[in-house]
Amino acid sequence: MTPQTVHVPLDGRSYDIRIGPGLLARAGAEIAPLLAAKRVAVLTDERVADLHYPALREGLAAEGIASDMLALPPGEGTKCWSQLERAVEWLLERKVNRDDVVVALGGGVIGDLAGFAAAILRRGVRFVQVPTTLLAQVDSSVGGKTGINSKLGKNLIGAFHQPGLVLADTDVLDTLAPRDYLAGYAEVAKYGLLGDGTFFEWLEKNGANAAAGDVEARITAIRRSCEMKAEIVVRDETEKGDRALLNLGHTFGHALEAATGYSDRLLHGEGVSIGCMLAFRASAALGLCSQEAPSRVAQHFADMGMKRGLGDIPGNLPDADGLLELMTQDKKVKDGRIVFVLARDIGETFVCRDADISVIRGVLDQALAER
Ligand code: GLY
Repeated sequence: MTPQTVHVPLDGRSYDIRIGPGLLARAGAEIAPLLAAKRVAVLTDERVADLHYPALREGLAAEGIASDMLALPPGEGTKCWSQLERAVEWLLERKVNRDDVVVALGGGVIGDLAGFAAAILRRGVRFVQVPTTLLAQVDSSVGGKTGINSKLGKNLIGAFHQPGLVLADTDVLDTLAPRDYLAGYAEVAKYGLLGDGTFFEWLEKNGANAAAGDVEARITAIRRSCEMKAEIVVRDETEKGDRALLNLGHTFGHALEAATGYSDRLLHGEGVSIGCMLAFRASAALGLCSQEAPSRVAQHFADMGMKRGLGDIPGNLPDADGLLELMTQDKKVKDGRIVFVLARDIGETFVCRDADISVIRGVLDQALAER
C-alpha cells in the first residue's frame, strides 16, 4: 500500500505528513532529502525505543543514515525542565547543528519535548515527527505546538516550531493497548464533530473497522483528521482565532484531567471524549443544537466502547463549582471568561466566550448526578 500525503502549506515552512504502513522501514528514503549529512539524532522514550527504534534505525541505515538515540522515561512527567535540559545537552554533546535533523520517535510527550528541544537548540534546528500513537498521528505531531509543562500547568512553556516532515506509520498502531487507541480515536471523532458532519457519518460506519485493525479505514481516518488539522493550522497557525476550534471538548477535558491529577484515572483522549460529550450536552442545553446531536455523539462513543460520561471516571470528582474553578485556571481563559467550543450541529462548531455559566453548571450538576 503506497503511503498517502497531506501537505501543510505554510509559507517557507511547508511540510508533508506521510501516512501508511511500512514508513519506519522507509524512513531513510523519506528523511534523506532533508539531510546535509547522513546522520540524525533520535529522541524517544524507553518503551517506544524497545518497540520501534530497531525498525527506524534499520530504515535509516538502508539509506546509509547513521542514528544516535536518547531514550527518556515514558510518561507525562518527562515534559519537564530537567528532561528538556538532558535532551538539549545530549544534542549539543553530539554537535547537532542547524544543518542536522532531530527525530522525535514517540507519542505526544516525546513529540512536544523533542520539538521544543529542536526549537531552542542553536535558536532552531529542523525536526521530523515519527508519531507512534493514534493521538500523536492525528493531533500533536501536526501543527507545530511544542513544549513542556510547568508546575503551574500543562504546556505553559513552549514554542510554535513546525516539523519538516511527519511520518505516521499505521503499523505502529498495532502495538497500542485498546484503551490508548480509543483515547486517540477521541481526537479523530473530534474532527468530524468540529467541522465535517460527513466525516462523522463515515466514522459511525467505519470507526469500528478501523479500531479492529482495517488498515485502509485507519489511513482514511488519519488522513481526513490531518487534512482538517492542516486546514485550520494554515488559517491560524498561532491560535489567534479558528485554531481554538481544535479545543472542542478540551475545556471540560482539561478540568477533568486536572481533577484526576493527570493520572491513569483519565487519559488525555478520554478527557476529550467526555469533554466533547459535555460540550454537545451544553450546546443542547443552551438551545444551540437539537437534543438529537448529543444523543448521536453518545451512541457512536458507546458503539466504540469509549468513555463518555463522568461515571466513566473512577474515584471522586469535585462538584460543578469545583470543575468550573478548574476551568478558569486553563490557559484558554480570556479576560476572566471561560472559552468553550460549542455546536450548532454535528460538524458545525464555534468558539464561544460568553456562554451562560449557570447553564454549564446545570449540565455539570446533571452529569455528576448520573455517576
Ligand atoms: N491540539 C490542539 C492544537 O494543536 O491546536
